[in-house]
Amino acid sequence: MSKQTKVRRLTANDIRARKGDDPIVALTSYHAHTARIIDPFVDFILVGDSLGMVMHGYETTIPVTVDMMVLQGRAVMRGASESLVVVDLPFGSYEESREQAFRTAARVMKETGCGAIKLEGGARMADTIGFLVERGIPVMGHVGLTPQSFNTIGGFKVQGRDPAAADSIRDDAKAVTDAGAFAVVVEAVVEPLARSITDAITVPTIGIGASPACDGQILVLEDMLGLSDWTPKFVQTFGNLSTHIEGAVRDYADAVKSGAFPSMDHVYKPKT
Ligand code: KIV
Repeated sequence: MSKQTKVRRLTANDIRARKGDDPIVALTSYHAHTARIIDPFVDFILVGDSLGMVMHGYETTIPVTVDMMVLQGRAVMRGASESLVVVDLPFGSYEESREQAFRTAARVMKETGCGAIKLEGGARMADTIGFLVERGIPVMGHVGLTPQSFNTIGGFKVQGRDPAAADSIRDDAKAVTDAGAFAVVVEAVVEPLARSITDAITVPTIGIGASPACDGQILVLEDMLGLSDWTPKFVQTFGNLSTHIEGAVRDYADAVKSGAFPSMDHVYKPKT
């Protein structure tokens, strides 16, 4: 369905139905204003826990809390009217048990109004994903590089380079699909593995640093715009916003300091 003819917000089922069809376009957003700008161009918006690094300057996503996700999820829901909004469950809020995951996911969905949640992990999360889906919570999976496991993986590294690791990531993608996930984010894997996962599962693969051999792509908006201090090697930028902002701020500072700051008198109506 083209974005121009959409009359309602997309759902998880709409995204699932796009397997092998038109490529799915997705970006992250954490704010009402960026959500409003990207909404007409994307199929879903992820309120990613990357907000911990991008907005708050943390080195990893581990410190992110459910309160942070709810606050930014609400903001994005106010900005977006057509795309599906998916909100990440942050580290420590769902891994302990399927009941804990349900409580967190239900809170996020009630308090933000989002249409789905995303959680990280493959086979080990399959039982939890099934539990959530059976109880009315659409779940997006996330395999390959899972940033919440930064401390056990040992950094933000390409995953699945050797055949055994590649098989295990493919098995993870199959397990979350069989459990009922409507789509699976595949992060930082080489193209042959991305292709074999896309061929092996019945729901869309959404790549990030995982080559074009996926059913769709997602990027962190600030990385894509060239606004982030640091971006992973695999990020393709489509803008250079840092330079534009620096230029505008320099012009503003020059105007203030040089006395060339414009008078606003002409915009105020004289009192009658
Ligand atoms: O948190 C996030 O932004 C993500 C994307 C990188 C997929 O999980």
